[in-house]
Amino acid sequence: MAFIDWNDKDFSVGVIEIDDQHKQLVNLINELHSSMMARKAKEILGEVIDELIEYTAYHFSTEEKYFDQYGYEETDAHKKIHKDFVNEVLKFQKDVQSNKLFVSSKILNFLKDWLLNHIKVTDKKYMAFMHKHGIK
Ligand SMILES: [Fe+2]
Repeated sequence: MAFIDWNDKDFSVGVIEIDDQHKQLVNLINELHSSMMARKAKEILGEVIDELIEYTAYHFSTEEKYFDQYGYEETDAHKKIHKDFVNEVLKFQKDVQSNKLFVSSKILNFLKDWLLNHIKVTDKKYMAFMHKHGIK
């Protein structure tokens, strides 16, 4: 069993492109988890973290592009949540790089809880908005 198991019922936001990106984020967190469990070298963990940060930025920009394009009413609040998360993960990346921190279960659980909660609560709120504008 993976660290995070995707299921459409709980996690689909009704937009194929975004579901696919969310699945990829789940894959990256699972990869980070298995690298940690296998006690992979710091360099490998660093690479997965870099990839996670890069992909997260790409994914957030996809969502925000639709918010801006069609005038989503919760754009500002949603962007702020994205920004806070990015800052949190950048801080964690810096601490790992400077040896102040090991990739721990605490961090993995933070990433998992944040992502799943964000999808289920904050992202699902835009489903009707996306569908109204033909994004499915
Ligand atoms: Fe989001």
